[in-house]
Amino acid sequence: MSGETLLCARNLSVQFGGVKAVSDVSFDVQRGEVFTLIGPNGAGKTTVFNLISRIYTPTAGEILFEGRALSGVAPHQVAALGIARTFQNIELFEHATVLQNLLIGRHRHLDHPLWKELLFTPSVRASERATREKVEQVIDFLDLQHYRDTMVAGLAYGVRKVVELARALCTEPKLLLLDEPSSGLNVEETGDMAFWIQDIRDDLGITVLMVEHDMSLVSRVSDRVLAMSQGQVLALGTPAEVQAHPGVIEAYLGSAGDLSSLRRKPAIEEAA
Ligand SMILES: Nc1ncnc2c1ncn2[C@@H]1O[C@H](COP(=O)(O)OP(=O)(O)OP(=O)(O)O)[C@@H](O)[C@H]1O
Ligand SMILES: [Mg+2]
Repeated sequence: MSGETLLCARNLSVQFGGVKAVSDVSFDVQRGEVFTLIGPNGAGKTTVFNLISRIYTPTAGEILFEGRALSGVAPHQVAALGIARTFQNIELFEHATVLQNLLIGRHRHLDHPLWKELLFTPSVRASERATREKVEQVIDFLDLQHYRDTMVAGLAYGVRKVVELARALCTEPKLLLLDEPSSGLNVEETGDMAFWIQDIRDDLGITVLMVEHDMSLVSRVSDRVLAMSQGQVLALGTPAEVQAHPGVIEAYLGSAGDLSSLRRKPAIEEAA
């Protein structure tokens, strides 16, 4: 960790009708750390991601990314600043191959005017080559070689989660937002996900802001954890500090207990 603030949320609030989804939430994410939001269902975690992605506009407060206020940035410009995201429910093009999905993920780097594209100028050729190289690097990094030409619709759920991660990495983000990276994964896949997240921080130098329910994954990979409940901040600290915080235990269980027992069941089991 460099000790330099990458993202700064200041007194954020957002309200939907009568529901205060996020209420006066402040936190700083340091460059190079894995920072995790935890909290019971409906705590406001995904809403914080939607505020950073500019899908929602805060009712009060502000978000600074590299010192720049996001309030003037349109949702489609957020990726260009270096913020990438995966979703709580995977969002990929089902009827395209893994490779095609990743090439689409690079789209923010392909900003040539149409006339240049049509003439296939040297700069267009160079950026196409860079795109291919980056995509192949990410395929190697996440061990997706075996699936590169497979249609997403035919992939197992666990592989799709990795493809979604790959698509986000292809944009070469400075900040990666992961909304429940382990949801729907079995224990072994969750272990792999923990390795990927650590490698993304340690080898690629990408800062990670994550929402996660699986406390074993949270403890393994997080530098710091922010616990939320009913839109408010409950505790901020190391994974051990936050898990031991009486307010956090209360919010999850209503009484003292082992938070690691709250691991969500895979989506398939839940649906069954
Ligand atoms: N667009 C919206 N319109 C109305 N209410 C919303 C909207 N988005 C979120 N909410 C409400 O805001 C609150 C926080 O929701 P959010 O999705 O952020 O929770 P969460 O912490 O991500 O929960 P989970 O762990 O279940 O994913 C909930 O009460 C939710 O119903
Ligand atoms: Mg959520």
